[in-house]
Amino acid sequence: MIAESLTCQPALVSMRDLDVRTVEALIHRAEEFKHGAQLELAEPVFAANMFFENSTRTHTSFEIAERRLGLSVVDFNPQASSVSKGETLYDTCLTLAAVGVRLLVIRHSQDAYYQELLNQPALPVALINAGDGSGEHPSQSLLDMMTISETFGGFSGLKVAIVGDLNHSRVARSNMEVLKKLGAQVYFSGPEAWYDKRFDCFGQYLPMDELVDQVDVMMMLRVQHERHSDDASFDQADYHQQYGLTLERAKRMKSDAIIMHPGPINRGVELASDLVECPQSKFVEQMRNGVFVRMAMIESVLRGNQLGGLA
Ligand code: CP
Repeated sequence: MIAESLTCQPALVSMRDLDVRTVEALIHRAEEFKHGAQLELAEPVFAANMFFENSTRTHTSFEIAERRLGLSVVDFNPQASSVSKGETLYDTCLTLAAVGVRLLVIRHSQDAYYQELLNQPALPVALINAGDGSGEHPSQSLLDMMTISETFGGFSGLKVAIVGDLNHSRVARSNMEVLKKLGAQVYFSGPEAWYDKRFDCFGQYLPMDELVDQVDVMMMLRVQHERHSDDASFDQADYHQQYGLTLERAKRMKSDAIIMHPGPINRGVELASDLVECPQSKFVEQMRNGVFVRMAMIESVLRGNQLGGLA
């Protein structure tokens, strides 16, 4: 069965573009896929996953989502493509569209790389942003919302802390945007130097020890060593003690509070290693839900682009 309530999105690049109804519809559809819903394709639909930055979770779960929906996945490796000869992102997408690819899933180091691709008449493709620089990560955000929704049944009044390397985090940007829209109370913590005052309009910045026994969701962020120019002076043990979710802090959490992390995890830095798979941790469930949320996103953009392949 195909959901009738989805709002069509020819592209899904930012959580800013999604209203509450659309987020709820995507989560609902992801739940249907999780419980076995199928999609019938009337004709072959080709997808290309273009990952210009490394990925394990997002790349593999998009590919599994595509295959579960019956799409044919075209192998695309930037290092082995004509990108290595200087072909631009636009010309690469133009080429893939010309040979018949109808869905592009792109991760790129450049913030808002997708702007040059949107509304191009020569690019009749559906586009999903799988992460842009320090911009946004909509599929991670939606799988996080699905996991929270499954645990608590809603968002209104829920206290969610987003903790760590906030400035570099596309997960944080997407999640603060959508959590506020959904009615959750957002809090931030971590090194002050990694906090941007522009986040003030989404939530309140507080020290970790003031938050830990108050919140329902403790969302820990990876320290993105590759994006820090002064990383040589970074002390992992010191960071863990000052800003991390230590075993001692975890004992102070509410009994029904949950721990989340988008992955990959720096064990013993932002999160004590023993907490990764503890009963309160949703880390594995987040990754599992990633497949179903991505199925819902793919279905939605393909419908929005009126590509014709769907029965
Ligand atoms: N959460 C996330 O984006 O992980 P990957 O970089 O492994 O895709």
